[in-house]
Amino acid sequence: LAKTEVELASIPEGKNVIIKWRGKPVFIRHRTPDEIEEARTVDLKALRDPQKDEDRVKKPEWLVMLGVCTHLGCVPIGESGDYGGWFCPCHGSHYDISGRARKGPAPVGVFPLYSEFILTLSCKLN
Ligand code: FES
Repeated sequence: LAKTEVELASIPEGKNVIIKWRGKPVFIRHRTPDEIEEARTVDLKALRDPQKDEDRVKKPEWLVMLGVCTHLGCVPIGESGDYGGWFCPCHGSHYDISGRARKGPAPVGVFPLYSEFILTLSCKLN
């Protein structure tokens, strides 16, 4: 199994980092309390692919996702777009602070990571 360790303490609240994992970009965001609140109070009926934030993250302050747009695979830009999350400049998809697709051609949210990668992160957190 591939293992990746990230020193989470070095990521300030409200900041993103991108790491490479198995040849792919992985987004890690240290979310603020306001961002967590925003992610968890969205009207799910308004989403094209309704997913609770609680089902996308293991620990609410740490959002970890594959950094690949679900439209055609570009790498979205963080801290941009109309929903406080990511924007994909290739064809204009907007993702919210949970990584859910909100506008543009992306059919679903950016893929959250729950694998051993997360378990490694969790070990670092505990
Ligand atoms: Fe991201 Fe098309 S690849 S919007």
